[in-house]
Amino acid sequence: MSTPRILLTGIKTTGTPHLGNLAGAIRPAIDGSLDPDVRAFYFLADYHALINVWDPAALERSTLEIAAAWLAFGLDPERVVLYRQSDIPEIFELTWMLSCLTAKGLMNRAHAYKAAVDANLEAGLNNDPDRGITMGLYNYPVLMAADILMFKANEVPVGRDQLQHLEMTRDIAARFNHHFGEHMVLPEALQRDESAVIAGLDGRKMSKSYDNIIPLFCESKKLRKLIMRIKTDSTPPEEPKDPDTSTLFSLYSAFAKKEESAALAERYRRGIGWGEAKQVLFEYLDDLLREPRERYAELTAHPGKIEAILHDGAERARAEARPYLDELRTAVGFKPLG
Ligand code: TRP
Repeated sequence: MSTPRILLTGIKTTGTPHLGNLAGAIRPAIDGSLDPDVRAFYFLADYHALINVWDPAALERSTLEIAAAWLAFGLDPERVVLYRQSDIPEIFELTWMLSCLTAKGLMNRAHAYKAAVDANLEAGLNNDPDRGITMGLYNYPVLMAADILMFKANEVPVGRDQLQHLEMTRDIAARFNHHFGEHMVLPEALQRDESAVIAGLDGRKMSKSYDNIIPLFCESKKLRKLIMRIKTDSTPPEEPKDPDTSTLFSLYSAFAKKEESAALAERYRRGIGWGEAKQVLFEYLDDLLREPRERYAELTAHPGKIEAILHDGAERARAEARPYLDELRTAVGFKPLG
């Protein structure tokens, strides 16, 4: 038997899980975990979330909701090591080791940091370009490198916006290996299929920051109401519609089977009223979400069950992290004298 590849990804615990997360991250990650040649490590990135979320109740709520969402869509915690980042203090210790090897100039070039500085400059803060920027934001890429290197991940599924972080991780790992010996595995980014990025209520990419999301777990009635609000043009009902430019169609086809999408595309081309198109989408999604919605309600009503799963995941994760960190400590010279 070949050694399994290690697949690892982090999920920031900010906000409420939405349809975009399902298409872009949850479904592909769960599918990936089913590959028999893979060992999957998936974690709730709450150390990262603390950079923006300074509200303990909100942080706790989001951690619970996101863990419940992944479980409700079928993540198998026996197969996947599912843990909460803040339960693994080894990650934090590794972050410091890596910080000491990371060029400050490299962090100056991080997109998220640069964007924050640019926003300050644009706001006329020429004397204080770092205003409002914490060390947490600045160090974000180093913490992310520690997440990845701690478990010797081979493959890291990420969106395009995270590719630079993977490059930085490889850079930092190579530097470690150069100075202290070949201890670290250089990870590859598995870029997510960007066609899985789906549109939100206003037609732009579905994102919490655009306030255009469709939450995964709301009641049918609310789901219907949101779908009825999706922007469409003023083409009259009987006229042909182009499925490829329709937000409604793109949402449908992100989840439906190929044949189902093809059949609906045909109806669009023959002419379908937008009201009817919305009803079709609503019924499809409502059906798709029905069972997960029930499992989700059950899970969130019993946070202790989720806690037990995360606790077990943390134990399994630490069983690997601890001996490896000891190896790294020895490599850099933290060891008993003599
Ligand atoms: N930065 C990632 C995001 O915003 C989340 C994340 C944190 C992550 N640590 C990670 C992803 C490690 C992959 C691997 O989506």
